[in-house]
Amino acid sequence: MIQVSENTITITPLNAPIGAEITGVDLSQEQSPKVMKMIDDAYNKYNLLLFRNQQLTPDQHIRFGASLGPLEIHVLKRYLLQSHPEILLISNILREDGDFLGLPDAGQTWHTDTSYRQKPSRGSILYALEIPRDENQQALGDTLFASTAAAYDDLTKELKDFLHGKKAIHRYSQRKRPVDSKREKLTKEQLQETPDIAHPAVRTHPHTGRKALYLFEGECVGIEGMPEEEGAKLISYLTQHIIRPKYIYRHKWNEGDVIMWDNAASLHLAVCDYKLPQRRLLHRVTIEGGVPF
Ligand code: SIN
Repeated sequence: MIQVSENTITITPLNAPIGAEITGVDLSQEQSPKVMKMIDDAYNKYNLLLFRNQQLTPDQHIRFGASLGPLEIHVLKRYLLQSHPEILLISNILREDGDFLGLPDAGQTWHTDTSYRQKPSRGSILYALEIPRDENQQALGDTLFASTAAAYDDLTKELKDFLHGKKAIHRYSQRKRPVDSKREKLTKEQLQETPDIAHPAVRTHPHTGRKALYLFEGECVGIEGMPEEEGAKLISYLTQHIIRPKYIYRHKWNEGDVIMWDNAASLHLAVCDYKLPQRRLLHRVTIEGGVPF
């Protein structure tokens, strides 16, 4: 455990290859530049931060997110909080008109956010308002986070050398969705807006310089300069490597939890093991990122 300033704030690495828990910070309050720097540094170092027992209004959530960088507005406008479009609702709850209150199947296959864009998001800050529970009151709907940096560290020198300078091709229309996904097919315009993007297969963290794998099966369709089938095999091998249990932190949510993750060093997956009347509602804000290098 690291004690940051006179017995108030603590940063404790999670018992996992990614993440740390911070206590002693009330995110509903405006933070001093010193505390914000401490949070930002821990975010870059641990690639995932957990704060428990928070109570955030949409304005407070947005203010905290915006203090880490400009915020993005999600493309799926119907799932934005009307009064605060910076907030994307993630939820299986049904509205009166029969539509979902939020995006019901967000993140239900392994991915890193908006990697099909030239400038993928830096990360998201997810705030849990309602968490589904089983008959024994055990939380359902966990989220798994895999450290792509720890997975990279363990590769052989030969494979690291081989991957050096290689680029993986990300294709949004190929992004894997759950089998029962209710998402509409991408329109012609959306397809035109999301052409294939080649990103380094190994990216360098913009703040720490740590290297991490940056590809995954279910969106990446090949490796530039490699025959299609060989590229696909390599992507599949590396994805299976990243999602080995030893690289994963599995979060069991409680209402009031806030988790922020770093897309430059992780993949994540939301587990859908619940259904109505078990309700799940989270608010998400997303921070802009830079071009991966
Ligand atoms: C996401 O991928 O943004 C959603 C994660 C979750 O709902 O647990």
